[in-house]
Amino acid sequence: MTTTTSAANTSIATPDQIRTNFPALNRRHAGHPVAYFDGPGGTQVPRQVTEAISDYLLNHNANTHWTYPTSAETDAIITAGRAALADFLNATPDEIAFGANMTTLTFHLARGLGRAWGPGDEVVITELDHHANVAPWTRIAAERGATIRVVKMIPETGQLDYADLERAITPRTKLLAMGAASNALGTINDLKRGAALAHAVGALFFVDAVHYAPHELVDVRDLGCDFLCCSAYKFYGPHIGILYGRHDLLGAVDFPKLIPAPDTAPEIAETGTQNHEGIAGATAAVDFLANLAPGANRRARLEASFANLHARGIELVTQLWQGLASINGVRLFGPEPHLPRTPTVSFTLDGINSTDLSRRLADHGLFASNGDFYAKTVIDRLAVGPHGLLRAGCACYATADEVQRLITAVKEIANKK
Ligand SMILES: Cc1ncc(COP(=O)(O)O)c(C=O)c1O
Repeated sequence: MTTTTSAANTSIATPDQIRTNFPALNRRHAGHPVAYFDGPGGTQVPRQVTEAISDYLLNHNANTHWTYPTSAETDAIITAGRAALADFLNATPDEIAFGANMTTLTFHLARGLGRAWGPGDEVVITELDHHANVAPWTRIAAERGATIRVVKMIPETGQLDYADLERAITPRTKLLAMGAASNALGTINDLKRGAALAHAVGALFFVDAVHYAPHELVDVRDLGCDFLCCSAYKFYGPHIGILYGRHDLLGAVDFPKLIPAPDTAPEIAETGTQNHEGIAGATAAVDFLANLAPGANRRARLEASFANLHARGIELVTQLWQGLASINGVRLFGPEPHLPRTPTVSFTLDGINSTDLSRRLADHGLFASNGDFYAKTVIDRLAVGPHGLLRAGCACYATADEVQRLITAVKEIANKK
């Protein structure tokens, strides 16, 4: 069902080879080829993913657990999806649950975990996080009378204040919710430090890996997280969310559920009929990434592929950062390129708000988002005003030429303001 890029199985795919998989890259706008810098909001999708989605809907569509072929095929597609995402996260298939998106899954998990919390219990969140890793926890804490502690970010560097994190974790902490990477600034957080601090007091460690997963290969075992969410539409897949839960924990969460529905992991975490075509597409997205490099098995191919994407990401982010830094009036936010970060750069340009800047860049065929990206507290702390930041993210199909086009366009806009 899932197609693969065979050329990639013997050597690391070049940027040009990668790009041939994405029909969207043929788009032109205002006389220019479109360069998509909006990956942090959602990446473009390779043909293999759309083929897997339509193959499911056209040839295997059914509900689960019945005796006839299309139902059995649907069961097999879901099983294959759990196996693919387990490889992607270094988990086991029974630790992988699917859902609408990260936000919905996190609200669901928070409700299940929070039922056991009460006054005196504490939950630790951070200022650097997307609000999908804030509201689920503040909401359930308010309902249960638990206390929320918020770890500060350092506006000058875009990093977490780890001294403040250490102060926030106490024997009363029930859960630490931390982002793996900031979708607003690209900052990669020290997750192992978070895991160690949380586990030292017997707290659970939840990780939002939505912005991290497209750029760095997640390893739930190595990171030491108990729960983790990511979203396939940020790593070349369809709009579907993934929840990892350590197996002994996932099955024990008091999720709201229907009496006849399974009460064991991972299905216990899933509500109602799943997005079967989305699961098929998510599998294809994992296979697409794995097939960009050779290796003995899918996890090994993912490791090689992400090592290559990581190296290219550093080159591109360095080029982008240095190019933008040389332009009068550009103010860059977040960690410098030599620090742990994703290839996502956010900035403002004096004299033009980020909405108008985004519009002007689109006239050059450069699609880049602006605003608060729901990382609202980050934007408030940076005090950059209602139009927020202009965010340019380098996905696997980004090239040095496209980055140069972006730098040149910002320079031109800065000169003409
Ligand atoms: C870091 C981060 N966390 C969470 C989310 C929310 O993900 P979803 O759209 O799957 O609910 C996003 C989406 O932009 C994100 O970037």
